[in-house]
Amino acid sequence: MLTVDEAFRKFKSRLELNDREQKNATARHTEVRDYIRTKFKIEKDFLTGSYKRHTKTKPLKDIDIFFVLKDSEREAYRDKVPSVVINDFYDALVEKYGASAVRKQGRSVNVDFGIVADAEDNTDYRVLSVDVVPAFTCGADYEIADTDKGEWIKTNPEIHASKAVAAHQAYSNEWKGLVRMAKYWNNNPRHGEKPVKPSFLIEVMALQCLYGGWQGRFDYEFQSFFQTLADRITDEWPDPAGLGPPISDGMDAARKQRAKTLLQAASRDASLAINLSRQGKNGEALKAWRALFGPKFPLS
Ligand SMILES: Nc1ncnc2c1ncn2[C@@H]1O[C@H](COP(=O)(O)OP(=O)(O)O)[C@@H](O)[C@H]1O
Ligand SMILES: [Mg+2]
Repeated sequence: MLTVDEAFRKFKSRLELNDREQKNATARHTEVRDYIRTKFKIEKDFLTGSYKRHTKTKPLKDIDIFFVLKDSEREAYRDKVPSVVINDFYDALVEKYGASAVRKQGRSVNVDFGIVADAEDNTDYRVLSVDVVPAFTCGADYEIADTDKGEWIKTNPEIHASKAVAAHQAYSNEWKGLVRMAKYWNNNPRHGEKPVKPSFLIEVMALQCLYGGWQGRFDYEFQSFFQTLADRITDEWPDPAGLGPPISDGMDAARKQRAKTLLQAASRDASLAINLSRQGKNGEALKAWRALFGPKFPLS
């Protein structure tokens, strides 16, 4: 039978991007990029967000693509309220993908490819959706439209990426895997709405909440990681690049309290699972971890 450690290793590898998924993702984002370039004056476009950083969980969705508009487009878009550029990108994408596949979000336009994950969260190696993010350069940084705030906000994906790389290296190359697993917990449908919103907040908190170095055991790591997240979820969490609005602005006080309760429960459930292992009840322990994380946590 699988040990708990082997199960975590398998779980981790199931959340890694494999070749077939990468191929599908490339086909999808290439198609969207080629199309957007025919509709707008684009300086450059590139992948960003958790997909680019390898901190995205499964099923793979909302792959972020930045489209940096040419300076000649400033008057048409940057000098206008954020909804103008979002609306124009929306209209262009609807033309190609249809209104039922395209959705406006706060800072992007989502294109859904109509793929549904099965009960085991498998998608036959296909990505569900991409997020199209219009942007302008702003010195060494970027500005993106935020329709919820009604303002352009600053961001810098390279800084987020280099912080993730540094954290990963400081944590014996386990950090990104732990972040993907914690995000997978966050997406467990048994919670109803996700406890932590946006899931980027988990990654931002992990920059500080995973500390002291990798101790070599996933079970203890998650017991304490969930507890630290619970203890600190009500704090304010600024943009790690020091540019955009606080990442913790995505939740109001009630939602933070709910997240805290669920994170505390996750830490308790982890302790119970660890106790089952101590009692030699390995099969029960695996079931407990699977209930905690969801169907990609293996029982065998
Ligand atoms: N409040 C913010 N300020 C600055 N940059 C942000 C902010 N929120 C998100 N970002 C950047 O935009 C990227 C895409 O956002 P999002 O899709 O919500 O996150 P992710 O792809 O990491 O799950 C993030 O990975 C991060 O680099
Ligand atoms: Mg994203």
